[in-house]
Amino acid sequence: MKYHIVTYGCQMNVHESEKIAAILRGKGYDRESPLEEADIIVFNTCCIRENAENHAFGNLGALKKLKRERKGLLVAVGGCMAQEAGKAELLKEKFPFIDIVFGTHNLGELGELIDRKKGQKKAVISLKEEREAVEDGIEPVRTGFPGAFVNITYGCNNFCSYCIVPYVRGREVSRDFREIVKEVEGLVRSGFREITLLGQNVNSYNSDGRGGLSFPELLDACASIEGKFRLRFMTSHPKDFSEELVRVVKKHDKICNCLHLPAQSGSDRILSLMNRKYTRAQYLDRVKMLRSAIPDCALTSDLIVGFPSETEEEFEETVSLVREAEFASAFTFIYSPRTGTKAAQMPGRIDEETAKRRIMKLIAEVNENTRKCSEKFVGKTTEILCEDYDPKKGLYLGRNEAGRMGYFASEKNLIGEFVDLKVERANGVSLFGTVEN
Ligand code: SAH
Ligand code: SF4
Ligand code: F3S
Repeated sequence: MKYHIVTYGCQMNVHESEKIAAILRGKGYDRESPLEEADIIVFNTCCIRENAENHAFGNLGALKKLKRERKGLLVAVGGCMAQEAGKAELLKEKFPFIDIVFGTHNLGELGELIDRKKGQKKAVISLKEEREAVEDGIEPVRTGFPGAFVNITYGCNNFCSYCIVPYVRGREVSRDFREIVKEVEGLVRSGFREITLLGQNVNSYNSDGRGGLSFPELLDACASIEGKFRLRFMTSHPKDFSEELVRVVKKHDKICNCLHLPAQSGSDRILSLMNRKYTRAQYLDRVKMLRSAIPDCALTSDLIVGFPSETEEEFEETVSLVREAEFASAFTFIYSPRTGTKAAQMPGRIDEETAKRRIMKLIAEVNENTRKCSEKFVGKTTEILCEDYDPKKGLYLGRNEAGRMGYFASEKNLIGEFVDLKVERANGVSLFGTVEN
């Protein structure tokens, strides 16, 4: 039997889809297939912005026909949107053919839910308020070789006023550091070359006391594991970004000099309305502290435009922050109201036209930085971890430490290997060059 998983949203979800795949394999769905040939289709959804939900709704609608044509096809919907208040009912109403709805806290139950569904006609809906155990004991079907994700925390306690994550992912819990180190060791031993530690706010790891170490200590322990590999982590909340963390990043070559430190806005008034707990000056101080310790550290960010009541001047402060903080790249978003969050109640909704104009201007600013950052590599040699082959370009590709994508030709399959790329030219976030092998 065959399975197909459709994943929306962040790396957390990408990794959870790897766990869903493991559960499906345990249930006899032993091969991945295109959507049209699958015996079970699982949608792992996201609800961070309205368009993430609209995508899932659109694609679910398209399953109606397939469901009619393929006898025995099971359709399951899980993830953040399924966990959102009232969404399971809405999903069932809009798409009566859905067989299973499960949430973010009970992914491990999916196997049982499949069994239950096979014994009854009615849809199976199972959602839990909180995660029951920190460890899920699932051995994921890794799909990102030579990269691998490792969860360090689940959930979030920050309640940034625009964000739905704390409502759909529950309170923050930390995995025991021994479990994490064991997992990283196992991955390195089996040939993975880039490990990304995942949490909504990695800096607050162990805030519940269940981790056993602070985040910098955990990072130190993971980077001390023998073998040639890279270590990344995301996401760092600027409010908890410490000198101790920077010291550990500096101490280990294995930890990439590339940090994702979402600023969200450059305006103090908006930052306060967002409940981010830092000011522009504090953010820039932390950037300065980082740059004085590790001058060549690439810094990336997330930025939101059109937050309720954001004025033109306040938006311009976000634009100038891009310049001042010298972000190597940044994800830019138009604020999307999320039901149940504080910001959704705030006055001063920004109209679509203004928001679009602002994001275009911000993107142009970010692109300028991206271009400059890539050009710095031209004429130099940079280490790439070869990740894939692009048949259209006829080139191998992989990222350098700073996250730039490098392309090169090779006779040999170099996927999973570190290579030195002699950069000849840059285009946006991409570098092109040659590798001697
Ligand atoms: N925990 C991480 C990532 C959260 S989601 C962090 O704190 O950075 C990723 C990004 O989505 C956020 O950083 C934010 O920029 C954006 N985002 C979250 N909620 C949003 C909303 N309602 N509208 C627009 N962008 C949003
Ligand atoms: Fe959302 Fe803020 Fe938590 Fe990130 S830290 S997940 S933006 S509430
Ligand atoms: Fe990630 Fe989307 Fe959930 S960004 S945590 S999948 S709401």
